[in-house]
Amino acid sequence: MKNLQKSLVKNLLWEIVKFLEFNIEGRPEREILAMLSLVVSGNCQYSYQIPNKPPKEESLLTALNQINNDKLIPIKNSLLSAINQLKWNIDDGLFYETSSEIGRSYLNGNMHTELIGPKNGVFKHDDLRLGFFLLEPKIFYKDHKHEAPELYLSLSNGTSWRFETMKWVNKKAGSIIYNKPFRVHAMKVSSQPFLAVWCWPHNSLKKCIVVHR
Ligand SMILES: [Fe+2]
Repeated sequence: MKNLQKSLVKNLLWEIVKFLEFNIEGRPEREILAMLSLVVSGNCQYSYQIPNKPPKEESLLTALNQINNDKLIPIKNSLLSAINQLKWNIDDGLFYETSSEIGRSYLNGNMHTELIGPKNGVFKHDDLRLGFFLLEPKIFYKDHKHEAPELYLSLSNGTSWRFETMKWVNKKAGSIIYNKPFRVHAMKVSSQPFLAVWCWPHNSLKKCIVVHR
């Protein structure tokens, strides 16, 4: 089982790296990719994570079935192969201070799995965290910020984003979103679930801060 988890997650990471190599733009994004490539190609320590049934399985499978962009199919297929070998977690507020008021919408509607990370990653890294992040349909993820720079690769259509005080913008499947440290962002999920690759390369154990608007 352990070897299976290790090889399926490694394959998945390679597909993510390959997609980013062909599609990423911008200097900070490229720096994150360079760091990620080093982790994936190196001999990073493997740590068995006890797999579980994804608590938001229906939304996860819906999000995966909706991926039809040719460029994202390799990531979709490798995730489908690895789904039952992953440990899926719900953020019940751990990413936030107890008094943050992040809201029930987010708390009831999120799920993630860590492929790389200092504590819960299948592969260990002192700082970098990378995994998949899911929000259920109709979730409003309030404006928030964090010290960690952040890279998202959206695998879903239909989610709107707000950065700082700008207007809401729609980000299609295949979009790469980079948030520099402390850039305020919020998300509004449509009637279809939101699934993304998510990466925090630095300061990844620092908490998120809600920004009230
Ligand atoms: Fe974020």
